[in-house]
Amino acid sequence: MAKIAAVRAREILDSRGHPTLEVEIATTTGHQARASVPSGVSTGRREAVELRDKDPERYLGRGVRKAVDCVETDLADVLVGRDSDDQPGNDRAMIRADGTEDKSRFGANAILGCSLALARVAADREGAPLYRHLGGEQAMVLPVPFLDVIAGGAHANNALDIQEFMIAPIGFRRYSEALRAGAEVYHAVRAELVERGFATGVGDSGGLAPSLAHSRETIELILRAIARAGYAHGTQIALALDAAASAFRSGGTYVMAQEGRDLTTDELIDYWALLADEYPLILLEDGLAEDDWPGWAALTRRLGERVELVGDDIFVTNPRFLAEGIAARVGNSVVIKPNQVGTLTESMETIGVARRAGYGIVISGRSGETADDFIADLAVATRAGRIKAGAPVRGEHVAKYNRLLAIERELGAAGSYAGHEFVR
Ligand code: PGA
Ligand code: ZN
Repeated sequence: MAKIAAVRAREILDSRGHPTLEVEIATTTGHQARASVPSGVSTGRREAVELRDKDPERYLGRGVRKAVDCVETDLADVLVGRDSDDQPGNDRAMIRADGTEDKSRFGANAILGCSLALARVAADREGAPLYRHLGGEQAMVLPVPFLDVIAGGAHANNALDIQEFMIAPIGFRRYSEALRAGAEVYHAVRAELVERGFATGVGDSGGLAPSLAHSRETIELILRAIARAGYAHGTQIALALDAAASAFRSGGTYVMAQEGRDLTTDELIDYWALLADEYPLILLEDGLAEDDWPGWAALTRRLGERVELVGDDIFVTNPRFLAEGIAARVGNSVVIKPNQVGTLTESMETIGVARRAGYGIVISGRSGETADDFIADLAVATRAGRIKAGAPVRGEHVAKYNRLLAIERELGAAGSYAGHEFVR
């Protein structure tokens, strides 16, 4: 047995230039591993809480020195001497010591950094790749990458209401072929924008952020780009949206800039139905706001048979909220962002709840990322079949997609690609 010997943390920068944590754990057997923690901007209200310093003199108040301190004192006190392989036990011990519902005492960022580093240490001790350590022999399915190509909402400074316009390269036999097609389409989108004189800066998740204002115009542009790159939309490359609708919900209505008016829940559902009728839309994340449960149930009745309706803000990777959603027939899929709940064990629990209910599982990064590629292994380990890690550009995103290329290579002929799950 190995025991946890040391727990260290430091303040590093994330992809937005805000501080986040990197945690390093060492065992008595000389194994050690690191993990770093991402951070979102369109956060759900019920997410576990990040501990931030709120010292206006440093990093606009976003410093994480307090969280670093919690790792090296409080959490180290909990963890040092414990069996490093006991992930659930260690996670539960941290949860217990924190003692709050939302992990606000030590910080979900502090706790998650420890939790993920522990998983890596245990994999290292087992001498197994992380996906195999977490998922066993069945971890052989490469996920469909949902690639952000156009950014709006809170991820960009344009007028698009929808936060992420994504492409899903489903009609391919291998992950590497799918990723290649996705990257080629991304470049074609860029070329379409250049031709029309749009700026080609990118948003927080790497999607291009032109000054477009209308969703349909944006979707049409993406469809042209798919053709331009030589692919068929629908059968080879499908579309997906993360509306992040909580961000434009206000006073019981949806304030959509492109419409120039407020939409009721029913009107917004009609709008999504129209897009699903006209375009090869296979997945819609946060089509309604986190506080609009009746609306979510109505949306699910209306579109649940043909579109994967993914709950992000509404479930926040929390097994309890997801179970409530399943009972209320809300959505048919869930985003898994470990930092929303704060431990790997709870993330796995949520994945189990989703799987037993036949819900889809979308392993996701955040808009503030690091080069840590943990979620790539997590997606393979859990046979989720879906990963969302931003655009196929910039280091913090391609780290995940490239890790999946390595896993595909390692699995060889035994590996399969989840694209066929979506081909009708
Ligand atoms: P976030 O956005 O990481 O900024 O919260 C990603 C998402 O909403 O899925
Ligand atoms: Zn989302």
